[in-house]
Amino acid sequence: MYFPNTRMRRLRKNGLIREMVRETRLSPSDFIYPMFVCPGDGIREEISSLPGTYHFSVDQLVAEVKQVQALGILGVILFGLPESKDELGSQGYDDQGIVQRAIRAIKDEVRDILVLTDVCLCEYTSHGHCGVIKDGDVDNDATLELLAEQSLSHARAGADIVAPSDMMDGRVAAIREKLDQNGHQDIPILSYAAKYASAFYGPFREAADSTPQFGDRKSYQMDPANGDEALREVEQDLAEGADMVMVKPALPYLDIIYRVKAEFGVPLAAYNVSGEYAMIQAAAENGWVDGEKVMMEALLSIKRAGADVILTYFAPKAAATLQGL
Ligand code: PBG
Repeated sequence: MYFPNTRMRRLRKNGLIREMVRETRLSPSDFIYPMFVCPGDGIREEISSLPGTYHFSVDQLVAEVKQVQALGILGVILFGLPESKDELGSQGYDDQGIVQRAIRAIKDEVRDILVLTDVCLCEYTSHGHCGVIKDGDVDNDATLELLAEQSLSHARAGADIVAPSDMMDGRVAAIREKLDQNGHQDIPILSYAAKYASAFYGPFREAADSTPQFGDRKSYQMDPANGDEALREVEQDLAEGADMVMVKPALPYLDIIYRVKAEFGVPLAAYNVSGEYAMIQAAAENGWVDGEKVMMEALLSIKRAGADVILTYFAPKAAATLQGL
């Protein structure tokens, strides 16, 4: 009935017409780059599970952040490999901890870049879980104070935004209260609100040395089968004072990104996690897909689904591609 009056192909005829009607556009300012900082000096070591990403000592990290900033990327999110680990993850909330030192060094030397921090204890605990262990499981309420302390020490070091990724109940409220009590009422909280217990974190855990030494994270991270529950998580974090929320992972959870954006209309981040990155890199290295095109299509799909901000290990590469470099 519509055809032949309506011919959808008219607006696909050439590049200029397609450009005119394009609904979604990526920009370097959409990306946040996750970076791993380690002790030492002069270290820039490729991470085997995440080819193209590195462990940086603080000095090398600062140099790299300068490059990242020059590409038009708005921010980095830091993950730390501490000198030592213990039961309570005390290096995570130490003012002399690796992430705290990295924040100060970046803030001293690089202008116009946001420093976000991942607030979680798994990189700092000897058992690799995201909080305090009691009776073989992570104790929710005992963990809250430590996460609040960690957030405060990040803010004191100069972090622009703190991003709790631990999935304890009530952590946004605990962090908000602690920040406010200490004069940091203007530091936003980006909560990893809908974070799934995903096998796609595998390469990250190798990179961050944060694999749980027993069990798994299913008693605190979400069941991949659940969508409605993600909306409840987001609702709760917003009620506790989250300024922005995140869905993680991204590509296997585009429906969740879409639903969260449609339901709440708040600033939304999505984490294109390590396994998503590693799969594309591996297929590209084997010549099975065109790595650059698949990267751009994947990132575009995350934005089209509703994400305002994309955390991705592709950030520098995608930004360079967008700038025609
Ligand atoms: C810390 C944390 C993890 C990731 C980000 N923050 C690992 C986990 O929850 O096990 C994963 C990021 C990625 O896979 O790229 N809890």
